[in-house]
Amino acid sequence: MKICIIGTGYVGLVTGTCFAEIGHDVTCVDKDAAKVKLLQNGGMPIYEPGLPELVQKNVAAGRLRFTASTPDGVEPAEVVFIAVPTPPQPDGSVDLSFIEGVAREIAACMTSYKIVVDKSTVPVRTGDKVAETIKRYCKAKVECDVVSNPEFLREGFAVDDFLKPDRVVIGVKSQRAVPAMREIYAPINAPLIVTDINSAELIKHAANSFLALKISYINAVSVICEASGANVIEVANGMGMDARIGRRFLDAGLGYGGSCFPKDLSAFIKISETLGYDFRLLKEVQRINSEQMERFAKKILETLWVAKDKTLGVLGLAFKQNTDDVRQSPAIELCQRLQAEGATLRVYDPQAMDKARAVLKNVTYVKTMNEIAEGCDALVIATEWPEFKKLDLEKVRRDLTHPILFDGRNLFDPAEMERLGFIYKSIGR
Ligand code: UDX
Repeated sequence: MKICIIGTGYVGLVTGTCFAEIGHDVTCVDKDAAKVKLLQNGGMPIYEPGLPELVQKNVAAGRLRFTASTPDGVEPAEVVFIAVPTPPQPDGSVDLSFIEGVAREIAACMTSYKIVVDKSTVPVRTGDKVAETIKRYCKAKVECDVVSNPEFLREGFAVDDFLKPDRVVIGVKSQRAVPAMREIYAPINAPLIVTDINSAELIKHAANSFLALKISYINAVSVICEASGANVIEVANGMGMDARIGRRFLDAGLGYGGSCFPKDLSAFIKISETLGYDFRLLKEVQRINSEQMERFAKKILETLWVAKDKTLGVLGLAFKQNTDDVRQSPAIELCQRLQAEGATLRVYDPQAMDKARAVLKNVTYVKTMNEIAEGCDALVIATEWPEFKKLDLEKVRRDLTHPILFDGRNLFDPAEMERLGFIYKSIGR
């Protein structure tokens, strides 16, 4: 199929590249000319494992290209995907101006029937608005079907999530769009759900909110574990073996962050309010999430007694492992909270230090993981990067003035850490 993707952000770039990988002819459009140039020259605007190789391979095969011109992408395409940001507004509602702008741009250069697919995360009923806008601004008065096809990619695992999804959701108003959508996803071995547009849009917000709820649930359980002497990992393992619950997204820690969960939860609460329902359950999920970070900060501060004039090493700045993304990162929030108490910080992240520099000032960025504890009074682990498990713990213990390690992601075994001579404080155990 001839596909155009508008927006080469996280979702657009992964989607376009993976569509090319499964054999489609893809043009990615972005109005940021510098980004287009970078991509045309083989550069990558984001860190995502496996993606650079796939981009290179598909560009070389002639199945993938980048342009700053919307008409160049839209005119030859049978299907146009919208993958532009839907950022939050101060009141939690979603700013849909990019979506509206792209709908107008598509309409302006449409000269034949197109299927316009919304991949961005949008409030329920946005599909109707997109269809209305295209109809209003399309001078050629050609037909168009709007489809909702939400994405469920996790940063750091996006290529795999795209090529091996649990399901593909397609929301349509007219059956005319279904065969083309089935053809696009035919090479992907996953159930394809065809539903109405409103339900498809709602599936995305309902799914992400439920996953955030799962994380807040286990974080709340971790508080009870600490108070009672139970171990949250044992509890999560035992719960997770029930197939109705499942083990994934039951890792207690500093809480969820990133560009999706916090935004999607606020949006879903706002959407519900607009539709006349006060979604208090989700407000509680948010409250538990922010309390979790604060509880961990207090644990550090109470142990240190006075943070002023103390130096802390912090491992992890990204909002989670396998990404350079620091948007709404609990790790950055924790750093800022510790700085506000007067602590001096040495920090390290395998990928996110460049992006962190813009938001986290007055800290020392160290070059390698194993030099993190040099001259520090304590060490903090804030992101679940797997390589942190390979930390040279003997060196860390020697480097620290006091062998105190606060583990916000439960990477180590408490008994083993005690044996190694650490005062080890983690979450829910
Ligand atoms: C999420 C959804 O998983 C994805 O389907 C959607 O399309 C976009 O939002 P992402 O934000 O990339 O993906 O990250 P995810 O792996 O879901 O983790 C989100 C946050 O939850 C991270 O801060 C992570 O550290 C935290 N988390 C995750 C936990 O604290 N515990 C867990 O058990 C799982």
